[in-house]
Amino acid sequence: IPVVPFVLVVFGATGDLARRKLLPAMFHRDMAGQLPEAAKIIGAARGKLTADAFIALARESIIEHVPAEERSEADVERFIARLDYRAVEADDDGGWQELAQALASYRERVNVFYLATGPALFGPICERLGRFGMAHGNARVVVEKPIGKNLESAKELNAAIGKVFPEDRVYRIDHYLGKEAVQNLMALRFANGLFEPLWDAAHIDHVQITVAESLGVEGRAGYYDTAGALRDMVQNHILQLLCLVAMEPPARLDADAVRDEKLKVLRALKPIADALSTQAVVRGQYRAGASAGGAVRGYLDELGAETSTTETFVALKAEVQNWRWAGVPFYLRTGKRMPERVSDIVITFRPPPHSVFDASAGPIEANKLVIRLQPDEGVKLWLMTKDPGPGGMRLRSVPLDMSFANAFQVRNPDAYERLVLDVVRGNQTLFMRRDEVEAAWTWIEPILEAWSNAAELPKPYTAGTWGPSAAVALIERDGRTWLDGG
Ligand code: BG6
Repeated sequence: IPVVPFVLVVFGATGDLARRKLLPAMFHRDMAGQLPEAAKIIGAARGKLTADAFIALARESIIEHVPAEERSEADVERFIARLDYRAVEADDDGGWQELAQALASYRERVNVFYLATGPALFGPICERLGRFGMAHGNARVVVEKPIGKNLESAKELNAAIGKVFPEDRVYRIDHYLGKEAVQNLMALRFANGLFEPLWDAAHIDHVQITVAESLGVEGRAGYYDTAGALRDMVQNHILQLLCLVAMEPPARLDADAVRDEKLKVLRALKPIADALSTQAVVRGQYRAGASAGGAVRGYLDELGAETSTTETFVALKAEVQNWRWAGVPFYLRTGKRMPERVSDIVITFRPPPHSVFDASAGPIEANKLVIRLQPDEGVKLWLMTKDPGPGGMRLRSVPLDMSFANAFQVRNPDAYERLVLDVVRGNQTLFMRRDEVEAAWTWIEPILEAWSNAAELPKPYTAGTWGPSAAVALIERDGRTWLDGG
C-alpha cells in the first residue's frame, strides 16, 4: 500500500548512513511500489555539489548496496528521478532560504527532515528549520543515536529539538526496533496464548541477551573511542530489547501504550551500585587475534594510540525490580571482534520441580526459548524428549525450530525501510520517546561515572573470543552459563 505523498530531506546526505542505509532503503520501497508518484527526496549537505553530482553519488550507492539481481536499470532511473540536492551550511544561514523556497510548494505534504548528521548539529539544524519556517504542522524530524553522551547532554539535545518540534513530531530511531525479528518478539509474546502465562519469575530462571559482532571498529575508531560499547549498544539497542522482553502487555499496539510500558521497565531497573565490581559489570577491550579466518589487529593498534579506557565489550547483570521479574537476572553482553556475528535473546525456564526418571535417563535440561535476531532469524524452543530406540528412557534436549527464511521465503527488509515509512505514516510505535532515552541514560550513567574514576583499564580479550574470562565468571558464579551461538 503506497504511503501518502511526502518529501524527505536528508541532512548529511553524502555521509555514510545516507549512502549505506537510507538511499538503498528508499529504493527498495520504491521497487515495492510503496512510494507514491510524487514522492521526493532532497539531499542536503555542506558540500557545494550540483544536483547532478549528488544524483551520481546516489546512483553509486544503490549499485553498491543493492545486489544486482534485486534491481533493474529502469528501477534505478525511476528512483533517481525523485532526487534533488541543496547545499546548506550547518553553522550559519547559508543555503537555508533556498531550501525553504524549494520546499514551499510541498507544504501540504508530509515533510520529513532526517538528520543523518552528528548530534552536535541536531540543535543548530532544528533551530534553522524553525527560523526559516520549515517546522510547520506537516513537518517531522528524525534523529538517531548517539542522543547524548550522558543524561545531561541527552536532556540538552532533547530540549533543543523540543523547542522547535513537539514530541509527537520527533522520531528517535533505534534501528534494532525496525528489525523483523525484533518486531516478531511482540507477535511471539502477545499473539500466542502459550507464553504469556509462563512469562514471569515463577517460571523463568533467567534471560540472556547477546549482541555479538565479528567486526572490529573498522573506520570508526574516532567516534567509537568517545563512545564505547555501553553507550554504543547497551544504552539503546540492548535496553530496548530488554524492554520488549520484560514489559507488561500494552493495552493496544499504539505508540504511547507501548512506550509507557517500556518506560516502566527502564524505571524498574535496579541501579548498579558498584560498577567496578566484576560481579555486576565486566568491560573488555580486544587485543590482536584472529577473526573470520584472518589475523586482525588489536583495538589500540586500530586506534593508533598507546592506551585507551574505551570498552569494546561489556557484560552486565541487570535486574528488573517489579512484581513480574523479582529475582530474575537479565544477563546482557555485547562486543566487537567476537567469534561470530550473532544476536540472541535466550529465555531459560525453570526446570520441572521433581524428576520421575532414573539417573540413567540423564539430566533434565531446562527448556529454553531462543529468539535469533540475526543472522538466520528464527525461534527455537528447546524441549526434553526421549532419545529414540529400545535402550530404555534416555532424555535429550531437542529444538522445535522455526526459521523465518524457511517459513516465509521472502526478502527480509532492512530496518530502515520500515522505519522511514513509519515516519511518513506518522506511527511512532517503533521510535524512542524522550523520557525513555533519558531513563536509559539514568541507569547507564552511574556505570560510566564509576569507570571514569577507575584506575584500572578494561580487561583485555583476544579478538575472535567471547570476551574476557571475567564475563564468563559473571554468569557462572550464579551457576549458569552463556549460550554461545544459541
Ligand atoms: C550501531 C552501532 O548502532 O549498531 C555499531 O553504532 C554497530 O557500532 C551496529 O556495529 C550494529 O548494527 P547491526 O544492525 O549490524 O546489528
